Amino acid sequence: MANDWLNLWNTRFTEPGYAYGSEPNVFLAEQLERLTPGTILFGAEGEGRNAVHAAREGWTVSAFDISEAGRSKALQLAAEQGVNVDYRVGHLPELGFFAGQFDAVALIYAHFPPSVRTNFHALLHTYLKPGGTVIFEGFGKDHLPYRERNPAVGGPYDERLLFSTDDLRRDFPHYTIDLLEEREVELSEGKYHNGLGSVVRFVGRKPKGGGTEG
Ligand SMILES: C[S@@+](CC[C@H](N)C(=O)[O-])C[C@H]1O[C@@H](n2cnc3c(N)ncnc32)[C@H](O)[C@@H]1O
Repeated sequence: MANDWLNLWNTRFTEPGYAYGSEPNVFLAEQLERLTPGTILFGAEGEGRNAVHAAREGWTVSAFDISEAGRSKALQLAAEQGVNVDYRVGHLPELGFFAGQFDAVALIYAHFPPSVRTNFHALLHTYLKPGGTVIFEGFGKDHLPYRERNPAVGGPYDERLLFSTDDLRRDFPHYTIDLLEEREVELSEGKYHNGLGSVVRFVGRKPKGGGTEG
């Protein structure tokens, strides 16, 4: 199963072009504009469209993924656009990030089974500085009918990999919530995200006290 999962992503990222395009996710780009650039970590960053955009906007960017093919594409995109991204391949927590390292953490379509997700989010919480921001967009629990009507919109077909707003509330407890909603959006992202879908969006700030009480 773990190998099938990794093969799926490596195969997708070995195809010509960029699976989700080379332009950043629209929501991510909008949210970055509201923040002062600092250090940012992109989890499950695939071919690097979001990380490269952030670097162009003046952020000091780290990223990681399980896919070596994703990293190659991301570094190619970064080189084309004349920016640097510290992009690591492997599994958390073994990638050398440390507590309180980042001003922001971004998760864009980072879908995993619940058993992986909770621990993954907990580690990212520790890497964020107190007062730091999480920016999140992923397909929500209402997405499956959209996918059935139009498979080109993409996203997991396993309901367990879709997000609820309560998942985010639970995984990032005591955060100041600037935005948390599930809503319909029109996606136009490369070859794999096209059409109407239902997404969960979250922008939250880690408590100044560190949030360790949660
Ligand atoms: C839908 S893609 C999103 C890529 C990128 N964030 C974007 O928006 O273009 C999902 C990504 O999750 C990555 N992924 C899956 N399981 C992972 C894990 N356990 N740790 C890190 N990345 C993972 C895949 O390799 C893939 O790059």
